[in-house]
Amino acid sequence: MGVLTFILSLHSLSFVFLFIIFYIILSKFRRGRCFSGHGPPTYPVIGCLIPFYRNRNSLLDWYTDLLAQSPTNTIVVQRLGARRTIVTANPHNVEYMLKINFNNFPKGKPFTEILGDFLGHGIFNVDGELWRSQRRFASHEFSVRSSKEFVMQTLEEEVDKRLLPVLESLSMQNQVVDLQELLGRFSFNVICKVTSGITKCCLDPSEPISPLARAFDVASEISAMRGAAPLFIIWKMKRWLGIGSERRLREAVGAIQTHVMEMIHEQKKMNEREETCSEDLLSRLISAGHEEEVIRDMVISFMMAGKDTTSAAMTWFFWLLSHHPAIEQQVVEEIELKSEGSLEYELLKKLKLLKACLCESMRLYPPVAWDSKHALVDDVLPDGTLVKAGDRVTYFPYGMGRMEALWGKDRFEFRPHRWFNEPDQKGGAMKKIDLFKFPVFQAGPRICLGKEMAFIQMKYVAASILRRFKIKPIIPDKPIFVPRLTAHMAGGLKVLVSKREKLT
Ligand code: HEM
Repeated sequence: MGVLTFILSLHSLSFVFLFIIFYIILSKFRRGRCFSGHGPPTYPVIGCLIPFYRNRNSLLDWYTDLLAQSPTNTIVVQRLGARRTIVTANPHNVEYMLKINFNNFPKGKPFTEILGDFLGHGIFNVDGELWRSQRRFASHEFSVRSSKEFVMQTLEEEVDKRLLPVLESLSMQNQVVDLQELLGRFSFNVICKVTSGITKCCLDPSEPISPLARAFDVASEISAMRGAAPLFIIWKMKRWLGIGSERRLREAVGAIQTHVMEMIHEQKKMNEREETCSEDLLSRLISAGHEEEVIRDMVISFMMAGKDTTSAAMTWFFWLLSHHPAIEQQVVEEIELKSEGSLEYELLKKLKLLKACLCESMRLYPPVAWDSKHALVDDVLPDGTLVKAGDRVTYFPYGMGRMEALWGKDRFEFRPHRWFNEPDQKGGAMKKIDLFKFPVFQAGPRICLGKEMAFIQMKYVAASILRRFKIKPIIPDKPIFVPRLTAHMAGGLKVLVSKREKLT
């Protein structure tokens, strides 16, 4: 018995000893092989699953801290159940993946699979020739002069005739409103009008949001949950079984597709009767003779792209401005001085401080907090980080806006004047924006197609509101930034609206 116990303990000891040797070799091997930057603590087999799980509700700040500690602002994240991921806040790496070696960094199947049920083969969710042809068509349509005029006309109608009267009535009743939700309804209407010529949502906060907007919310939230799931097999199983969130996603996508198909058929009938307004994207796609499914997916992609992005940016803009009354006063003065009472396209361009404030709020709270591509073949990023075929490479606007190396010691402060050549002077020229240091609209060949429209829209809305109203948040001091497909403010931005006194 004694001999048996001795042999057994010898066995256990050698097992423990072997395990320790195996662990040391494996961790050295893994570190040597994977890293040129830093990363979270990583263990054999499970990788960084434990710290990842521990930080799952604050991934943005966890990654930002890790990136700040890395000498090249790049980290490698490996965990069981997920592919090797390189997260970078290094502008040289960002330029390399988004422009210099663009062809090696498509969105890739892991991305398009997550959004495939929702976005189908729309521009947002395809690579290669399918993407190129849609991009060519849409860029042309967005660059023509009539498209700018159409956007301005849409804004005049949606802001002057609908949004401002709602704010007017709220100010008279001294009633609290969720500004994030109101701006969300408004942006949905604008993007619906631009893509299909029809508005879809009621702006009255006491009315429920339209079923179509609701279906978009559900579909984008559940698609984002797929992307954030620690193990992708779980959502795949749920989809296969048709249960829980996956069932809700299927229903929401069904409702969206049916609705958009009806819009296509309606528009076609109008085309036949020659009653069409040919400026919107849907009419142009129909006139170009595209197939119905292609049109449907393209329209859904555009609606998705324009739905919450501008409203998210404006929500944080109003919140930040309300905490910086001196800057708010300067912005109001600029609007009064430059716009001469009207907000035409050329006049909007002169509102530089307003643009700087919008850039500064998107630097701190980017509507798309992170975005990933997948390497086709092995590669090396400019900072020396090895990329293996199939790796996910994520550029990270949220973290980039918080890197001392990029923005200096006051990086956490809202300081719009940093966007000017001479920050201490009043006025002057704005700095040329380095798109790879500030990739909130992405950059390179796949840069956001709606960038210009987004700025026009945000300037028009912000200027129209600020010159007439004061916005006073009544929420806790530090709202929570929640990254989904498009980021938002947890719990909304509850505000009181009051009339602003005219400047003398
Ligand atoms: C503040 C507002 C906006 C921000 C921050 C923003 C940001 C972005 C980003 C980061 C991407 C790249 C996403 C990816 O490839 O996964 C993108 C793509 C895109 N955006 Fe925007 N966007 C905004 C507003 C808009 C608007 C209003 C529209 C519609 C008119 C729009 C249309 C698009 C389209 C069509 C793409 C896909 C481009 C392509 O893949 O070639 N965006 N946007």
